[in-house]
Amino acid sequence: MATNITFHPGSVTATERIELLRQRGVTIWLTGLSASGKSTIACALEQHLLHLHKFVYRLDGDNIRFGLNKDLGFDEKSRNENIRRIGEVSKLFADASCIAITAFISPYLVDRGLARELHEKAGIPFIEVFVDAPLHIVEERDPKGLYKKARAGEIKDFTGISAPYEAPENPEIHIKTHETDVTESVGIITRYLIEKGYIS
Ligand code: PPS
Repeated sequence: MATNITFHPGSVTATERIELLRQRGVTIWLTGLSASGKSTIACALEQHLLHLHKFVYRLDGDNIRFGLNKDLGFDEKSRNENIRRIGEVSKLFADASCIAITAFISPYLVDRGLARELHEKAGIPFIEVFVDAPLHIVEERDPKGLYKKARAGEIKDFTGISAPYEAPENPEIHIKTHETDVTESVGIITRYLIEKGYIS
């Protein structure tokens, strides 16, 4: 824990940044089981918003674990720290007027709640998107063969099998990926951003 530190506010205000860059930052927080479709939706949404000339950037669980979070595993404490860091990083991106898209399982309600609180305290919209698919469907998809390994006991603490997933209670957006295709999912999120006045 650092001591003797002082917070230095800059002279650029949030309003000034939003007006001059003509974009407001928000965080779009995708949560769901492995293979529920988080990364697929995040990639397509990033592509779509970029082509609308929006400043957008995607943070993906697997990718971030190659770098920033390479020191973390999948026990509860590591996942808490993973999501704490991503809450902070996405807030920084959104504070810089970026549309930050995060795609992390983020299985614990408390961790997602803390990420939301961090954003809301800073006046930054936090849009939780529940990327929902039943366990039997994601197990059938199993694109990386991880569920098979988890069932065989080769991966411990695997979400949905031997580690919990706490579904959102009140997400801003709920997408059932076994009923909704990627294009429609991107449309649902984009329409939400427009309706709320976050993008035009
Ligand atoms: S978490 O729970 O938010 O900290 O996880 P996240 O950073 O999103 O990383 C999830 C990806 O890691 C791979 N993987 C596992 N997932 C769940 N449980 C265990 N034990 C595990 N081990 C490795 C897996 O590829 C996850 O990617 P997605 O895209 O969710 O399938």
